[in-house]
Amino acid sequence: MFPFNLKEALESGIAVTGCPGSGKTTLLKHIAQHLILNGVVCYVIDVSKAWPTNTPIDNTIVVTGEQFTCQRKNTVFDISKLSYDDKQKWVIECVRALYEQHVNGYSQQEFIIFEECQIYLPTGALRGNAFAPIKDLITVGRNFSLRYALATQFPAMVDANALKSPQQRYFGWTTEANDVSRVRSYFPRKRKNELEETLRDLGKLQFLYQYGNTILPFKIGYYSPPVNVPLESEAPNPIKVNYAWQPTPA
Ligand SMILES: Nc1ncnc2c1ncn2[C@@H]1O[C@H](COP(=O)(O)OP(=O)(O)OP(=O)(O)O)[C@@H](O)[C@H]1O
Ligand SMILES: [Mg+2]
Repeated sequence: MFPFNLKEALESGIAVTGCPGSGKTTLLKHIAQHLILNGVVCYVIDVSKAWPTNTPIDNTIVVTGEQFTCQRKNTVFDISKLSYDDKQKWVIECVRALYEQHVNGYSQQEFIIFEECQIYLPTGALRGNAFAPIKDLITVGRNFSLRYALATQFPAMVDANALKSPQQRYFGWTTEANDVSRVRSYFPRKRKNELEETLRDLGKLQFLYQYGNTILPFKIGYYSPPVNVPLESEAPNPIKVNYAWQPTPA
């Protein structure tokens, strides 16, 4: 088992950073499995087809931008086919649809995993109203049973407010100066240099786990789905989600 506090994850969320290949998706698959086994319904926004195989979630929807209806169960939304602009718009509408139902009383605990979130949650995004649903999710979603994980290879390019909200952070191997500097800002003052060295030296599937003043190095194994354990968190009262947003014409 890896360092993980379920209660805190459902209160403040999770942040995962690290260069390509550091192991972010692998870690998130372990985390998603843990959440699912604890009755949490998980949605993944996947931009790179990293989730449909070798996965804790066997239901994938390939998003084309057409309106669709979604059963309330663990789902991977593959948005790789959408243009850059449309990815951003679609994610906002997806969060809006989920969030509105929670605010209106839907109490099933749910969790959204945002992969490569620098694409649709760039620096400054939360200042404008266009991102209102994501702002709502981040600032008050905890009161409405809706939480999230942010994963990125470029933490310096992600909205700083979004990234600082989660209290459990997992930092993988990082070398780019701006990204190192962003990650360093979360380290305790007296340990910045030492931890920066560690950060640059981490290997594949190795992370620094930060929760408050605790900072622990750890390593995970490759993910493989469990045998003989059904990974279904069926919502007790399924609700259909309508994504009303239509793509911009080509
Ligand atoms: N089941 C597996 N067997 C062998 N290698 C694996 C397995 N799962 C992942 N890997 C390898 O482990 C490394 C970490 O993969 P992972 O997809 O978790 O990284 P990542 O940080 O999400 O990368 P990216 O930023 O490119 O999405 C990669 O080199 C990947 O090829
Ligand atoms: Mg990945």
